[in-house]
Amino acid sequence: MADSEHPKIPEKGLGHDEVLEMLRRFKEGDANYRDSKTWSLVYYLGEEHTRFLIDAFALYFSENALNPMAFKSLKRFEHEVVRMSAALLQGDGNVVGTMTSGGTESCLLPVMAYRDRAAAKKVFRSRKPEMIAPESIHVAWEKAARYFGVKMVHAPLRSDLRVDVEAVRKRINKNTVLIVGSAPSYPHGVIDPIGELGALALEHNLPFHVDSCLGGFLLPFVEQLGGEVPPFDFRVPGVTSISADVHKYGYSAKGASVILYRDMDYLKHQFFVHESWPGGVFISPALLGTRPGGAIAAAWAALKALGMDGYLELARRVMETTRALQEGIRSIPELEILSNPEMSVFAYRSTAKKANIYAVGDVMEEQGWLVDRLQRPEALHAMVTPLHERIVDKFVTDLKQSVERVLADPSLAKQGNAALYGMIAKVPLRGLVKKEVLKMMEQIYGPEMKMPY
Ligand SMILES: Cc1ncc(COP(=O)(O)O)c(C=O)c1O
Repeated sequence: MADSEHPKIPEKGLGHDEVLEMLRRFKEGDANYRDSKTWSLVYYLGEEHTRFLIDAFALYFSENALNPMAFKSLKRFEHEVVRMSAALLQGDGNVVGTMTSGGTESCLLPVMAYRDRAAAKKVFRSRKPEMIAPESIHVAWEKAARYFGVKMVHAPLRSDLRVDVEAVRKRINKNTVLIVGSAPSYPHGVIDPIGELGALALEHNLPFHVDSCLGGFLLPFVEQLGGEVPPFDFRVPGVTSISADVHKYGYSAKGASVILYRDMDYLKHQFFVHESWPGGVFISPALLGTRPGGAIAAAWAALKALGMDGYLELARRVMETTRALQEGIRSIPELEILSNPEMSVFAYRSTAKKANIYAVGDVMEEQGWLVDRLQRPEALHAMVTPLHERIVDKFVTDLKQSVERVLADPSLAKQGNAALYGMIAKVPLRGLVKKEVLKMMEQIYGPEMKMPY
């Protein structure tokens, strides 16, 4: 078996140049975000901004925000990122929060905090806390439900793919510790009725979290530009917390998000203190122990360097590009945009039986695009960033041709990924899908690292 299949730490260390060259080489087969071929994962603003973030990150490369007394600089950056984000999301001086490693951590923590708050206030009598969230809520919340033993109760969506508030109302019971909504949701890019959910939460004296991991650093600017953005932030009575990712539309280095609470009465349930550890009294504000200083410094640097004017201009470009892309997609008779998304995240699907959308996705991938697939309904997905402005025409042309190819050769729907995704989306026994996917994960993470494709 080749050495690379059973890697060991080399007996004798290699030279820096050699290792760096290997790192560069291994990138070759990766997704091409630099040419705006990707529609998720990377929020790339070009080399100049990236170099700036690298410099900011490097200045605090070794520092650790685990101990705020040791690195007061990092505590200052975290404080300022929280304050700047709170102001952007219309919070008053009482809003508090912490930085986290990303959207998932910013969704995990409030579930734990609200569960423990409910227990501390003895607001539920049984030991089975529940949270109510739209079917479209990000999977990070499902993860939180599993990690923290809180039952996830889904509320169905209306035909416009926003959550049905009456269905949420019906699901409230004595075990409910939290209501969640999205601004916007990842799958469809639409904002749930945050005002109505806030009123419902107030009526039942329940906490209400708005997952604005995607929208937190974009929607305020879309609103300033005159876009139709219903209030989704701390202006809405009843909203008790918001998550917003600096590493998405805040254009920061990866590993940066904020979780904000309306006041300390909520945040204090997120804190962890262990007072009798032999290693000393241990305090931790969030999930991680060691917290990389670089990500915190780079988030602060991004907010300072881009400024309100920079974010506004980037939002203008993103929204213009989104409109152009959607117009292009609508010009293809067999395709439609799902619902009416408020910002730059949207799904599009086929309205013609013969134009299988997953097959369209496969043909697009043959042409170097990395497109994301949705299930229920079967659709493709796009998260638009400023530099996508360069590829609008090419993308629409390729998409048109891909649809034509699939129409001309319907057997494409039965091949490759299209067949796999189509099968996975249609299997009624979801437990079976889970079992198969878990097997695949065991292969990927097994000793041989067997990748499915
Ligand atoms: C609405 C929403 N919440 C949470 C997350 C999780 O964020 P992360 O991937 O940074 O953990 C995402 C990621 O796309 C998201 O769109």
